[in-house]
Amino acid sequence: ISQDNIRNFSIIAHIDHGKSTLADRLIEKTGMLTSREMQAQVLDNMDLERERGITIKLKAVRLVYESKDGEKYILNLIDTPGHVDFNYEVSRSLAACEGALLIVDSTQGVEAQTLANVYLALEEDLEIIPVINKIDLPSARTDEVKREIEDVIGIDCEDAPLISAKEGLNIEDVLEAIVNKVPAPTGDPKAPLKALIFDSYYDTYKGVICYIRVVEGTIKAGMEIKMMSTGKTFEVTEVGVNTSKHVVLDELCAGDVGFVTASIKDVKEATVGDTITDKNNPTKEPLSGYKEVVPMVYCGIYPAEGEDFNSVRDALEKLQVNDAALVFEPETSAALGFGFRCGFLGLLHMEIIQERLDREFDLNIIATAPSVIYKIIKNDGKVLEIQNPTDMPPLTEINYMEEPIVKASIMTPTDYVGAIMELCQNKRGTFLNMEYLEEKRVVMHYELPLNEVIYDFFDALKSRTRGYASLDYELKGYEPSNLVKLDILINGESVDAFSLIVHEEKAYERGRTIAERLVDVIPRHQFAIPIQAAVGSKIIARETIRALRKDVLAKCYGGDISRKKKLLEKQKEGKKRMRQIGAVEVPQEAFLTVLKYD
Ligand code: GTP
Repeated sequence: ISQDNIRNFSIIAHIDHGKSTLADRLIEKTGMLTSREMQAQVLDNMDLERERGITIKLKAVRLVYESKDGEKYILNLIDTPGHVDFNYEVSRSLAACEGALLIVDSTQGVEAQTLANVYLALEEDLEIIPVINKIDLPSARTDEVKREIEDVIGIDCEDAPLISAKEGLNIEDVLEAIVNKVPAPTGDPKAPLKALIFDSYYDTYKGVICYIRVVEGTIKAGMEIKMMSTGKTFEVTEVGVNTSKHVVLDELCAGDVGFVTASIKDVKEATVGDTITDKNNPTKEPLSGYKEVVPMVYCGIYPAEGEDFNSVRDALEKLQVNDAALVFEPETSAALGFGFRCGFLGLLHMEIIQERLDREFDLNIIATAPSVIYKIIKNDGKVLEIQNPTDMPPLTEINYMEEPIVKASIMTPTDYVGAIMELCQNKRGTFLNMEYLEEKRVVMHYELPLNEVIYDFFDALKSRTRGYASLDYELKGYEPSNLVKLDILINGESVDAFSLIVHEEKAYERGRTIAERLVDVIPRHQFAIPIQAAVGSKIIARETIRALRKDVLAKCYGGDISRKKKLLEKQKEGKKRMRQIGAVEVPQEAFLTVLKYD
């Protein structure tokens, strides 16, 4: 099939508007798999992804479609993740396409979050095809939603396919639109190789599998390739495409989308956005848009059971093989023992890893509060970069500190502008400007400290705007800031796992919240326990857990010995999940509840 008959596209949609359902229908309609073979959803096959309703890893599927004009077309469907943490991956997978379907739920209309990805697609110059979904529902507002898309995004919806992905209605219209509207790829198959990696993951048998878009030239087995960002070279073992399974091909040419394997041992050697070229006939310039991913958020991860330390390390290593953005190194905490300091792209990425440790590896873990990287300029002129509050030097050695600032764009219906301004002000934001996208929708630009954004900004934004506002941000740089280390003392002992670096203005509020929460979760002891929040030697908040004479056996009426035994047994069980802080037993869950940012 010639280049003219290739179409590379992805699907952009707000969560729950029907992206996976439509993808399934397209796959089914083109006869790639029968519904029975198709295990529920082909594209997101990670349990966690499905449960969380998000697509974390992107993949590509090749469909073959015979169009009404009688010709056969290769349609490469490239899946994209849908969260700001993974925006870079989204932008690279869009860069592998010429077009995108924009799915809009006809009962919901355009939602703010969709816009962020639409703008990424427009930046890559993609042809955007609106598709109106869920027209089977009685509450569908098809015409209204069409008008909304035209107003908000400015694309013509006259010919937009009106479909029900669920019932398989008018799916052919979508396929025809892809064939007729998405431009065919261009690029010289004889030129030096230039291929974009838009996804890579580790496979136990084949090593790293890279998903690529060949932009120029041809790639085939046996060829020696070079990764342009690292200069590392590999010999290609296989190239091919994914239909329902891996299909090995002789070669992939300019315009093609497919996979390549080359005995690559680590995803860090084949990172998203990198350009693959021919070692012996290299292209001059790599493709634009490559970025090295750097962790923005850090936290400590500790096994709840000390003996699980090695299992946690093994699990993190396994996850890392597949996740170039995850970093970790061992660390110790006086309160939590041996664990790991881990770095993530953002909060969602962090939560996903924590959850995978729990679900896929069955590990019980305790995570400390997330932190960003601070710069400390010491009196002697030395600059320290720290992401763990316990590494902060004494105040007397510090000249000043700097914190990371992000440029944030918040898209919102005009109704919520006031609420958002209040929120951003509260989060130490600096208002830059506001643009009208259309009559009732604006994008507000702010500069915000990253540590406020990772605290509870996203949740607060969602609740204040009933989910209508969306957030996108990128690192702007570092700025001086009045930061302090907030310590939490239990019965006079500072607990390192609770320490935080916060802005001076926020110290009291955060300290008080943590102290109040601890009072709720630490059981009473035989003595009174002061819980204090301190900045340096200054106590800024204090709560007390009152003393209690607790005789567990008193509850047992009569002299039923087996009952007594049971109770003692139960108490022992509970003890296991306690952490000893000085004379105080702190339940494991305290670490979880206290550090929760909502
Ligand atoms: P994420 O994977 O979470 O981003 O969601 P998605 O956009 O892939 O949505 P998904 O395909 O999972 O569909 C979300 C829900 O809408 C599911 O319960 C679908 O069954 C339902 N749905 C999808 N298309 C239609 C449709 O045409 N009509 C109706 N009534 N329901 C639909």
